[in-house]
Amino acid sequence: MRLPKAGTIEIAPSILSADFAKLADELAEIESAGINIVHLDVMDGHFVPNITFGPPVVAKLRKHSKMVFDAHLMIAAPDKYAEPFVEAGVDHITFHIETTAEPEKLIDKLHNLGVTAGICLNPETPVDAIKKIAPLCDMILVMTVHPGFGGQKFISEAAEKIITIRKLVGPNIRIEVDGGIDPQTTPQVVSYGADTLVAGNAIFSKSDRIAAINAIRNACK
Ligand code: DX5
Ligand code: ZN
Repeated sequence: MRLPKAGTIEIAPSILSADFAKLADELAEIESAGINIVHLDVMDGHFVPNITFGPPVVAKLRKHSKMVFDAHLMIAAPDKYAEPFVEAGVDHITFHIETTAEPEKLIDKLHNLGVTAGICLNPETPVDAIKKIAPLCDMILVMTVHPGFGGQKFISEAAEKIITIRKLVGPNIRIEVDGGIDPQTTPQVVSYGADTLVAGNAIFSKSDRIAAINAIRNACK
């Protein structure tokens, strides 16, 4: 599976807020709503104060879905774990710019492994930190909460960086936004130039996930 080309708005549900005891069913439900990308939040308890799941869980999920697996690595050593995640079946890997001294090398490595590559900025990380390597990426992830947990409050000032990044990279690189995305915050980030909307709590805290996805879709218009 390949990340859809830039130019369409995609909602990427984050399974962080899903029911971990029935992940295959959760995937099937969002896929039935026409979702193309699922966002997988990987946390190591070092880079962020929370722990989620690793390659073995991803490999099991891979058999249940044809959606693009968008792995968001909130881990201290992304270089070390890139290969196991690719072997497990992810299609896109985002790492945090704060976690590697040699981002160009890691982007190259991801491309050589056959996946697309993304870099992520924490809310307090300036756009300058990614200026040089942004054009090498397939997608840039802007955090609008401090990474680690779902269901936090959207940080509006962090979202403003999307405007600068869109000017920097032009129309052909995806800009993903992650944290506090719901039907209320969606119009703002879309108007700034985001085209890939991660939403965890706004979808999986609702009993009707499909209605929740449609509510975000309507807010894009
Ligand atoms: C937070 C994760 C997010 C999280 C977003 O560290 O990177 O992907 O699931 O959750 P919501 O949409 O609930 O803010
Ligand atoms: Zn995420």
